[in-house]
Amino acid sequence: AEAKLPVAILVPGDFNDHAIGRIDKAFKLVRIERADPGLVTDEMRATVRGIASYAGISAAMIDALPKLEIIASFGVGYDSVDANHAAKRGVMVTNTPDVLTEEVADTAIGLLINTVRELYAAEKWLRDGDWVEKGNYRLSRLTLRGRSVGIFGMGRIGRAIARRIEAFGLPIAYHNRRQVEGLAYEYHATLKGLAEAVDTLICVAPGGASTEKAINAEVLAALGSNGVFVNIGRGSTVDEAALAVALESGTIAAAGLDVFADEPNVPQALLDAPSTSLLPHVGSASEHTRRAMADLCVDNLVAWFAERRPLTPVPE
Ligand code: DGY
Repeated sequence: AEAKLPVAILVPGDFNDHAIGRIDKAFKLVRIERADPGLVTDEMRATVRGIASYAGISAAMIDALPKLEIIASFGVGYDSVDANHAAKRGVMVTNTPDVLTEEVADTAIGLLINTVRELYAAEKWLRDGDWVEKGNYRLSRLTLRGRSVGIFGMGRIGRAIARRIEAFGLPIAYHNRRQVEGLAYEYHATLKGLAEAVDTLICVAPGGASTEKAINAEVLAALGSNGVFVNIGRGSTVDEAALAVALESGTIAAAGLDVFADEPNVPQALLDAPSTSLLPHVGSASEHTRRAMADLCVDNLVAWFAERRPLTPVPE
């Protein structure tokens, strides 16, 4: 009998080394420069049954691979994968939840304190020699003391952030698509209502059409002049031009951003905005957690091709 050909898995663009190693061992690894249907060869068309990817996968990319069965997306957010089209085509989509929850919550808290206490600017003061030349760094205008914290997106990561905020002794409220059962925090049915009730807003909402530019001028104005905005979710959730104006004009006091609408490009207006701490999307980016995400990503492929039952399919 003919030897069974190994399953071909396509990996577009840059990818986690540990995941690459495991895919190369368990499957036939096929690499492509980016997730662009124009780069798909006849051989890929004939053989590729799975994709493992950081990158977004469009409907056109799905359609370019007629034998495709599964897209194993690396990361908990899968807004850049056209999951509706995948479902229509009968293609399974998986993500990597849970294993990054605590890491991202840690980063959110780090970014919050960094932003409120201007630690990023204080460090620059030291490194620039200003401590020696000019004396002590100025006192931070803002403090965490007395703040009330609103969380936009009360999923696993939102709850992990809330647990940390509880330890700080600060009151917590939240907005979510729907109220979470059994959760004692104050629920607001609208994002604007939440922004009116708090002075510190942490966004951990998923990206995609339903949250596009939800953080707009109106929400920022509701947060108020003592307002601090932290985004650890997706840049698409923010009207970035409105945020830059709000920071420049003092409509809010400060912002800490780990995510941007057009990564890795950061709008000049945000680079120039006062009282703003910026990070290059490092929420889950420790070696420890990225290895766990890589394992889950590949375990999904292994489980699918062994018994057609992935570990973490994305919600319907
Ligand atoms: C995620 O898991 O969604 C992070 O943003 C990393 O992509």
